[in-house]
Parts: sequence; structure tokens; C-alpha cells
Amino acid sequence: MKVSATSIPLTDLDVDFLLLPLAQDALGTMRATLAETLGPMAERAMQDFSGEEGEAISFYPDGARARRAALIGLGAADAVDAERLRQAAATGAKLAVEREAQNVAVRLPAAGPPSETAGQALTEGFMLATYRFLKYKTEPAAFVEPDRLILHVDEDDRDVRRGAERGRAVAEAVRTARDLVNLSPDEKTPTLLARAVEKLGKKHGFEVSVWDKALIEEEEMGGLLAVNRGSPEPPVFMELTWRPERAANETPVVLVGKGVVFDTGGLSLKSTKGSMDQMKADMAGAAAVIGAFEALARLDVPLYVVGLIPATDNRPGENAYVPGDVLRMHSGKTVEVLNTDAEGRLILADALSYAATYRPDLVIDLATLTGGQVVALGSDTAALMTNDRDGAADRLTAMEAAGRRSGDWVHRLPMDAVYGKLLESDVADIKNVGGREASSITAAKFLEHFVDYPWMHLDIAGPAFLATEKPYRPKGGTGFGVRVLVDFLRDYASPKKVR
Ligand code: BES
Ligand code: MN
Ligand code: ZN
Repeated sequence: MKVSATSIPLTDLDVDFLLLPLAQDALGTMRATLAETLGPMAERAMQDFSGEEGEAISFYPDGARARRAALIGLGAADAVDAERLRQAAATGAKLAVEREAQNVAVRLPAAGPPSETAGQALTEGFMLATYRFLKYKTEPAAFVEPDRLILHVDEDDRDVRRGAERGRAVAEAVRTARDLVNLSPDEKTPTLLARAVEKLGKKHGFEVSVWDKALIEEEEMGGLLAVNRGSPEPPVFMELTWRPERAANETPVVLVGKGVVFDTGGLSLKSTKGSMDQMKADMAGAAAVIGAFEALARLDVPLYVVGLIPATDNRPGENAYVPGDVLRMHSGKTVEVLNTDAEGRLILADALSYAATYRPDLVIDLATLTGGQVVALGSDTAALMTNDRDGAADRLTAMEAAGRRSGDWVHRLPMDAVYGKLLESDVADIKNVGGREASSITAAKFLEHFVDYPWMHLDIAGPAFLATEKPYRPKGGTGFGVRVLVDFLRDYASPKKVR
């Protein structure tokens, strides 16, 4: 999709659909202006319009060149934020798609955030709402994707352009993550996933190195190898590098993504309905990291970032690891496996202890780790946890703020030592399950055993994959995590923050 900005008179905009997001408070002044520029039909539409959030009224702008137009409610002016603009753009996108519009213009509302933020938010909302995953549909789809989005501003404004460009790069990165999550499991074996990531690295300009099973054995990644034992497909371990010349940091920020390409539960088998049937999404953490790298490279973010992705499926094959197995992990610690369905933490643990070799500034992992996260926070908000090392409170605040701004909401959970007690093992250093209570926290406590640097963990089990659509998130893979990571890292890269 092409995205541009213009400040030609609204009347002259030659588009299939013109979207006009309006706040309640702006209606009085806008009524006359719109009637004047778009014609009497606009005035009549305005009479039926209250500006309430979510409201949308379509009309034929008889005084303008645009074929169709719609008023879209933003609610109270002082409550218009980036998220509300994303949702308004999504509402408009739905109308435009219904009418098979090719060129769509959105007018920047007077209310709300500064024009750069507004341009980014409107572009994201529009491009994320017009995403469809049609790879496996053999009938030609009754869906025409708009091919041009034009942001209309009253006065020429470089900030809008910059915002729109960033919004496009971010939205495309989110779409990449969605595509990977939605892919059929047999087309994303660890080896095929690695190939896809290599292609993306070439296209966007980040480095990718892929370790095969022999290298993983050499590194003694006991967790990754154990989870992989029941699978006919070998595991891979990917290292992604984005190191621009003007990077502000010497030691990297490391992103780790859970890459379980399918989670059957292993011998502790899941039941199919509502449990196993969505487990192709168990690599959504990896997809978020991959999407974030695409965006970092395209936006040329001046930060040295490394991505680590352990990838395997989790299956009950004849050689599968069993409850009772004691594993020796990459770090040297031993783990008693009591449930083979708690596999994510095992592969992440190896990646996290390997991350220490970089002497990282900060490590952030993303994982569809626990059903408990879905129970606690649902599918709108991911769980955020950290260890108690330099600046814990500040980084929690920074990540939650990035979540708010980006629309990928995250919220902290406690990490007090009491939760760690639930992992005590009779035979090994720790066991891999902590029981039913506080399972998201005990999973994070498990990971904490493998980190010795500032670290944050995002459990995205709920938000990563939807059974029912949300305004600009369709059913299936959402690409959750890409936007909050990009927002957090851009902020982190600003000179005052880098140590
Ligand atoms: N991949 C699942 C977690 C999950 C559940 C993701 C629902 C998305 C939606 C993970 O590997 C898992 O099975 N977790 C178990 C751990 C338990 C056995 C300790 C869980 O949370 O039930
Ligand atoms: Mn599992
Ligand atoms: Zn899993």
C-alpha cells in the first residue's frame, strides 16, 4: 500500500473514499466548513452525526471530487489519543473495503496528538485493519485491498509525512509477524522458518545466522534439545543482528522470542478443542522479534540489537522427553521436567543464558508462555515481569508507557521471592512447573534462574492470537509485540537513555 500526504483543497481530492474523523467538540465549527467544501450532502450528514466514539455515517459528497465520504466519531476532543485514531481509521477502512475503494483519503482531525503521531496512528490503524490472510484460499477472494492511503492536512506538514512513513513501516512489520503466525505449521518447520527469516534479513538489511542441530548440541542447549526429541524435524537457533554504524550503545539490547512452531504439549498432551488447535501460534514471540527487526532496519533505529530465536516443535514422538527427565541446561543448571507442556520456558532458558555472552544492556523476551496470562489479563494486555536489577522500576514504567502509546498494552505482575518457592525440586536444581496458582509468575520465576543482567519478560499468550476480531486486529495472528517493542526501543535509543 502506498501512503502519502497532501494539502490540496479537500474539494479537489480525487479519491474513492474520503474519511473524516471528527471529535464531538469540533462539530459546530466543522458543519459550515464541510458544507462549503463538500456540498449540501455533507451538511445533511452532519445533522445526523453526534461524533460519538465508533459512530460512522457515509454520504455522497456532491460538492467534491471524492466518490464517497464518511464522518467518523472520535468522542470527546480531549480524550483523542493515538489509539482512538487507530480505531477510527479501522472503522473507516471497513467502510472503504465494503465499497472496494482503491484510493482512500483520511483527513487529520484538529483534535488529538501532534501531527506526526496522528499520521503514524492513522496509517497503522488503516493498514492493520485492511490486512487479510488469503494464502490458502483457492477461490478468488471477494476482497480488494486499497492500494493508496492519502493523509489530508490543511497545511503542508513534514511531520505528517514522517509519521505516515513510520506508520507504514511499522504496520508492514506487524503484517509480517501476522503472516508467520498464520502460516500452516507444516510450512514453518524450524528449518523453513529460518529460511523465511534469512529472506527477510536480506530484504530489509539485518544479519541472520542460523545454527543447526550440531551447533546446538555443541553449545549444550539441553532445554531446546529435550523439547525437540519427540520431533522428526531438527531444531534451529537463530541469531539476528541489527548494528547500525551510528548505534548509541556498545553492548546490545537482546530480544528473545519463543519459537515453538507447534505445541502439542508433548507426552503431557493437550486436548484439541480450544487448547491444541491454536498452537501454531506458539511461535508468536519469535514472530514479534522478527517483525521488530524488520521495523528497526526500515526505520534505521540507531541502536545495536540482537535477536535470539530457539525454534522447535513440541511433539510426543517415540523419542520424546518424559515427565521425570532431568535436563542439564545450557547454563549448567539442572531441571526436573514434570510436565512436557511447560516447554517454552525450557527453550527460552537456553537462549537467555546464551544471551549473557553478549554482556547485554538489557534483554527482553516475548513468549506465548502460559494459559494463566490469558486468565489474568485476557487478549488485550500482555503480562510484564522483570528481575530486581538496576533500574527495574524505570524499565517497567518505560515498557508500560510504550504499551500505552503503541496500543500493544502491557501490565506488570509481581515477582516476589515467595513465587519462586513453588519451583523447588526434590531431585534437581528446579522443576519446570509451579502448579496452577500464579502460573504466569512462576514461569517468569523459572526464567529468572537463567538471567544475570537487566531483563524483562512479556507473556503474550492471549494477545498473540484472536478467536474473535478486534477493531484493527483480525482473527488469528495479531502481530502483538512488534509495536510495543519498536516504540520502546526507539525511546531507548534516544541519546539520554543509552548508558
Ligand atoms: N503454549 C502454551 C501456553 C499457551 C496457552 C499459549 C494458551 C497460548 C494460549 C505453553 O507451552 C503451555 O502449555 N503452558 C502451560 C504450562 C503448564 C503446563 C505449567 C499452561 O500455561 O497451561
Ligand atoms: Mn506447552
Ligand atoms: Zn507452548
